[in-house]
Amino acid sequence: MSDKTSNQMWGGRFAAGPDAIMEAINASIGYDQRMAAQDIAGSRAHAAMLAAQGIISDSDAKAIREGLLTVLSEIEGGTFEFSTALEDIHMNVEARLKEVIGEPAGRLHTGRSRNDQVATDFRLWVRDQLDAAEQGLLALIRALLAQAEAGADWVMPGFTHLQTAQPVTWGHHMMAYVEMFGRDLSRVRDARVRMNESPLGAAALAGTGFPIDRHMTAEALGFDRPMANSLDAVSARDFAIEFLSVASISAMHLSRFAEELVIWSSAQFRFVTLSDRFSTGSSIMPQKKNPDAAELIRAKIGRIFGANVALMMVMKGLPLAYSKDMQEDKEQVFDAADNWMLALAAMEGMVKDMTANTPQLEAAASSGFSTATDLADWLVRETGLPFREAHHVTGALVAMAEQKGCDLPDLSLEDMKSVKDTITMGIFDVLGVHNSVASRMSYGGTAPARVREQVARWKELV
Ligand code: ARG
Repeated sequence: MSDKTSNQMWGGRFAAGPDAIMEAINASIGYDQRMAAQDIAGSRAHAAMLAAQGIISDSDAKAIREGLLTVLSEIEGGTFEFSTALEDIHMNVEARLKEVIGEPAGRLHTGRSRNDQVATDFRLWVRDQLDAAEQGLLALIRALLAQAEAGADWVMPGFTHLQTAQPVTWGHHMMAYVEMFGRDLSRVRDARVRMNESPLGAAALAGTGFPIDRHMTAEALGFDRPMANSLDAVSARDFAIEFLSVASISAMHLSRFAEELVIWSSAQFRFVTLSDRFSTGSSIMPQKKNPDAAELIRAKIGRIFGANVALMMVMKGLPLAYSKDMQEDKEQVFDAADNWMLALAAMEGMVKDMTANTPQLEAAASSGFSTATDLADWLVRETGLPFREAHHVTGALVAMAEQKGCDLPDLSLEDMKSVKDTITMGIFDVLGVHNSVASRMSYGGTAPARVREQVARWKELV
């Protein structure tokens, strides 16, 4: 860090420089340098507009625009010397621009303020992250579709209360997550549409007397339009909060799936084998293969939702327009974005690599009286019993099987008839898990044919 002081930017009315502690609490350059590319893109668009409107000369605009590219290459090449005294990325870039091109650099800040500048940079940065999240979600959804297609008719237990409930198919379970991540994807796309308006040209808060063209800069930066109210433009951070909300919901979905993978890969379940590439060993217990990636994904929701809460707390109660509190928006969003992208990529990798242990899945699906509902449904269909009564009869049969230490299909016809004499051999057709899942043909049901329809529908979409 160099010892440049802020005075060259705003020191006109200041006799002394800031206390070291003031500098430490005030500076954001330590993290907002991540927005360098966005800052320079915004400044280049602004300079071009100033020249097009006759506010600065073409030659000054040219010098500014080229000089900014030089600064960008210094930053990207790692040779740029960031200064804490220059507070933030905006003043660091402008100060360096002055060193590179001299006097014309001083004309860049005409008709704008750091308030609209930072709002613009941050919107551009968050927009890039929404685009990255879209790609991450698409990749994860494709990995899940491949699993669903391969295992459309593999049978596994479906749970409620983590107790065996009814047999379902592996493909159906995978497709449940496709639906969840698909909604995350649509939230990402919605958020992008809503946030894609340009704050640039709102200036400090009230707009400017210079004849700027905000439509021109908005278009140059890929925004759909300029924001319509300058006070709102510099003080709105709901776009960042919405990003964090969308990220939180997605991280919650990732966490639920991660938890299932932790359970499924345990020695007690053995439903899946995670690849060595996404597992770790223990330094003391040689037999261990731990699902660390899944556990870390499960935990990421903590910091991501924490960021969401933190930014809500920063923003609540702030009067219009800009307050320095709002500088506290960035680190939270940066951290949440990094960890969301990482979690998406790690989950995609795990899903691609994992192997379903199909014999174990089927054995588990067949135990725990998982076809009791099929039995009750059979009694309704074939003997005309009201469902409530069929439920009662089935309960008695489950109790009998439990007492005999066997499963429902292991009961003899005589055993069955001793509970309900209208039962016939036909009942055994519905007690097998494959018949059970195949019969669940209601729309959205677990039948392999239904799962394949959904896989085909999603393949069209992604
Ligand atoms: N570093 C500041 C931030 O992140 C830039 C805006 C500063 N504006 C001001 N009026 N001090 O919010």
